Amino acid sequence: MILYNDAILERNEVAVSPEDRGYYFGDGVYEVFRLYNGRLFEPEAHKERLLRSAREIRLSLPYSADKLTRRLDDLVQASGVTEGTLYLQITRGCAPRAHGFPAECTPVLMAYCTEAARPAAGMERGITAVTVPDIRWLRCDIKSLNLLPNVLAKQEAADRGVNEVVLHRNGTVTECSASNLMIVRDGAIRTHPANNLILHGITRKVVFRLAQELALPVEEEPFSIEELLAAEEAFVTGTTVEVTPVIEVDGRRIGNGRPGPVTRLLQERFVQEIA
Ligand code: PDD
Repeated sequence: MILYNDAILERNEVAVSPEDRGYYFGDGVYEVFRLYNGRLFEPEAHKERLLRSAREIRLSLPYSADKLTRRLDDLVQASGVTEGTLYLQITRGCAPRAHGFPAECTPVLMAYCTEAARPAAGMERGITAVTVPDIRWLRCDIKSLNLLPNVLAKQEAADRGVNEVVLHRNGTVTECSASNLMIVRDGAIRTHPANNLILHGITRKVVFRLAQELALPVEEEPFSIEELLAAEEAFVTGTTVEVTPVIEVDGRRIGNGRPGPVTRLLQERFVQEIA
């Protein structure tokens, strides 16, 4: 089932216009929610971020936030998905190709749910990564449909036989292709500050709260590739990866090359959070 603007339709009933500005320009924003036990995880935080992303690109939603909440609940019900994701995107709408905003344009909203298991293998064993330059624009805090740099980076990881990329600007680590990155140093968690250079992850915020409950210090400070390689532990956070250990970067082991105790502690707490 697909939520298409205001209607919940079968997939084959949805016809997308070739003039959608999402195709032409990536002119739109998106969100990925996680569904646990048939319920959206942190729905308010995702909706708030969606509204902010839309505001930042001067895109108005096709209807009110309250109505969006009801329609997303309807979609979850209609889809019957209990473990998985809900993908939602809003484009500026359809119009003949011209860069500036069209005078007349109605936003197009599309959302659907997909069944997906939790990423058990990566969470258990940990993942490998390589560092690549972060060539994205300077508004990575906006969850824009323009993901070409992320796509190219993730493909580079696949081509080089690793799971993920660690993005960096002049040696300063920002985040990964679709997740935030944290390191553990002297028992403290360190991660890039939530400014214009990273997406302000919802899972990142959940992990901050869990860390506080566990009395683990968190420092929102940038760190270098060298500091990452010298870290006791590293892990990524994200809607699709939850808390996943990073055990190797650029062929070098992080810590002893196995998921570390702080990462394991956060994983355990995270499971309680989603139960
Ligand atoms: N990505 N950083 C980037 C660049 C991301 O695309 C994402 C999420 C995150 C983690 O944010 P959150 O914890 O709110 O999921 C960080 C989604 C899952 C995606 O594009 O598929």
